[in-house]
This record gives sequence, C-alpha cells and structure tokens, in this order.
Amino acid sequence: LTRLEVPAPAAQPISRPRLRAGVVGLGRQAVEDHLPALSLSHNAYLAAVCDTDPSKAAIAESYNVPFYDSVDLMLLEQELDFAVVTAPHAAHLAIVESAINARVHVLKEKPFAISLDDARRIARLALAADVRVMTTLQRRFNPIYNAFEQLLPMIGRPYFIDAAYTTVVDEPHAGWRGRRVTAGGGCLLDMGYHLVDLLIWYFGLPDAVSAVTSASATETIGEVEDTASVQLMYRDGPHGMIVVSRRFPPKRERFIVLGTDGVLQVERGRLRRFNNSGAVTEELYRRFGWPSAFVSQVEYFCAVIRGERPNIGSPNHQLAHVATIESCYESAVTGRFVAPASKLEVDDCVQTCTPWWRTDPGRQSK
Ligand SMILES: NC(=O)c1ccc[n+]([C@@H]2O[C@H](COP(=O)([O-])OP(=O)(O)OC[C@H]3O[C@@H](n4cnc5c(N)ncnc54)[C@H](O)[C@@H]3O)[C@@H](O)[C@H]2O)c1
Repeated sequence: LTRLEVPAPAAQPISRPRLRAGVVGLGRQAVEDHLPALSLSHNAYLAAVCDTDPSKAAIAESYNVPFYDSVDLMLLEQELDFAVVTAPHAAHLAIVESAINARVHVLKEKPFAISLDDARRIARLALAADVRVMTTLQRRFNPIYNAFEQLLPMIGRPYFIDAAYTTVVDEPHAGWRGRRVTAGGGCLLDMGYHLVDLLIWYFGLPDAVSAVTSASATETIGEVEDTASVQLMYRDGPHGMIVVSRRFPPKRERFIVLGTDGVLQVERGRLRRFNNSGAVTEELYRRFGWPSAFVSQVEYFCAVIRGERPNIGSPNHQLAHVATIESCYESAVTGRFVAPASKLEVDDCVQTCTPWWRTDPGRQSK
C-alpha cells in the first residue's frame, strides 16, 4: 500500500489575541445583552465603556474597566479594535463617524440609520476608511430564524405574510424614544426594524409598501408613532401585513408565511410548520437562546473584522432596510403605496436577495 501524503495543516496559532471592544451607551440593551456577551466571548473582551451620563460610571466599576463620558477621548486613549454602539438612534451617526475616523470597526445597534442620507454617509465613510460596520440583528444568530429560511421551500409558493411585533410600555411617549429629534421615528423604526430585516432576509426588498401610523395610544398624543400597520407586496409574490405597537399587550412576536403547500410560523423560541388542514407537521423549540445569540453575534463580528466571514449586516445590506422604512413613513404622509426601490439611487451599492419565485418561476410548489 502506498501511504497517502496528507499535507500538514498550515500552522495556526492555538489562541489569537482577543480584540479590544469599547461599548458606547450603557443603557438597557448594553447592560442586558452586549456587556454580558462580551464577557462570554472567546474572541473579544471589554476594554472600556462610555456614556454621556456620568451616573453610568458604576457600570464601568462593576466590569473593572475605564469609564469615559466622551467617545472621542475613549477612542483616542484606548486603541480599540471595535466599538459597540448602543445609544439613542439620533446619536448613532456622530458616534459611528468618530469611530470610523479613528479606524475603529463598529458593531452597532439597529436601526442602521434614521434616514437614507445618514445611511449613505456611513456607507461612504466606512468604505473609504476600510472599516467594518455591522448592524446588530440578533435573529440572524438564532437557529429558529435560520431554520425558518431553510423550511420556506417546504410550503410551496408563498402568497401571504402576517407579521407582528407588539409590546406594552406604560408611557410609550416618554424618554428619548418619544421624541423625533432623539429617536428619528417611532415603533416602526425601532421594533419594526427587526420585522423588516426578516422580510428582506427571506424575500428581498418589497416592491411596494403602504403604512398607517398613530401616536394616540395614551391620553397624551405622542410626537412619534406608538402603533403602525404596514401593507406590503411583492410583484408575482406574497402580499401581507406588518403590525408594530408599543402599546399592544401582551408582548408578542410572530412571522407567518402562508404558502400553497402549508404555513410556516415563527414566534419567540418556537417554529412550526402546518399543513393546509392546520395540523402541525414540524415543530422546533429554542429556549433560553437569546443570550447566546448575542455572543454568537460578537464572535461573528470578530470573524468579519479578521476577514474570515462576510459582513451580513454591512451598510450595503442595510440600505434596503432604511429604504423600506423611509418608504413606510412617506406613505403614512401621502396615503399612497411607495416602492422602496424608488428611494435608492444608481450609486447605492445595495445587497439584497432576489426572491426565488423570480429566479426560478417554474418552481411553483412541490
Ligand atoms: N436589538 C434589540 O433587540 C434591541 C433592544 C433594545 C434596544 N435596542 C437598541 O439599542 C440602542 C439603545 O437602546 P436602549 O434601550 O439601551 O436605550 P437606553 O435609553 O436604555 O440607553 C441609552 C444609553 O445611551 C446613553 N447615551 C445617550 N447619548 C449618548 C452619546 N452620545 N454617547 C454615549 N452614550 C449616550 C444614555 O445615557 C443611556 O445610558 C438603540 O439603538 C435601540 O434601538 C436594540
């Protein structure tokens, strides 16, 4: 027998230096998700934190890292590899610009931007500086939502989408989320961004959207919407509805697609496929999974920075999301359907999938 010559694997360091991360904005999202995720990461560690509110210095103490009330000073002193941006929406642009100017990569909370102009600006700056910017959308790191994509072909040709993300907040118009100047928009831009991401992930850019919004869930009328309903349609494909509300108890999330051969439904932690008689044909649970989705997200971003993974939340991907939301807001004012594609310019480098029923029109159903 001739021994097969197996080439020796390229020398790989057993462990690589972990990347230095700084978190900007120490509110609920940072405390509940991003700081714990960094503590559990094998590829990154928390080096410093920043918040404009000095009372948040206690958080720095509990993690034993330096606290800054200025992002520019933190970037100057800390030699960070990346910044995690979890501040109010309207503050994102200036923070991201500072990081890009300092050649520091950015893992930023949704929304990618509060307007297409801001989105284009970040995309341009990041490209010019060769800096990775990734928007955090944790459903992409939850196997339930990945399985949804894998199972979509099982239900044949999709014809209807029913999506909702609702919660209940005592005072939906209080705090920075209640003001246009700090939030950039209401529940549609905030929670709705997650549903728009699922829509674009599974089906690509919708061909037309029409939205109705209201800010009247409490006695005091709000400045930005607390409730929104969006009608959407794909040419030759499904049409459907998205409902988002900050005042619609109990807290719920669902994304349902009706197809010629059945129904696929994802709720928090559970995926089910039904046949056309309504019987469950497949079921998948994922309990207690959100914390690990945030860890996976950090690990993935480290791989993006190292050039080992594609940036699935890049500015080019997010232009489609911002165009869709901006179209909804325009429609809420004009009362007309708006085509998100009409918001995009020829110079925009947009990455989004083409719905399979357009690339493979012969595949009607099983
Ligand atoms: N992915 C998700 O599921 C999810 C959930 C909740 C919030 N978020 C996002 O996280 C971000 C923050 O939301 P939150 O609920 O944590 O808000 P929050 O109000 O709890 O916290 C915001 C923090 O940012 C600080 N801050 C304000 N301006 C700043 C600036 N210029 N520089 C540094 N810090 C500043 C505030 O002092 C506050 O501590 C938003 O983008 C929001 O959409 C995402």
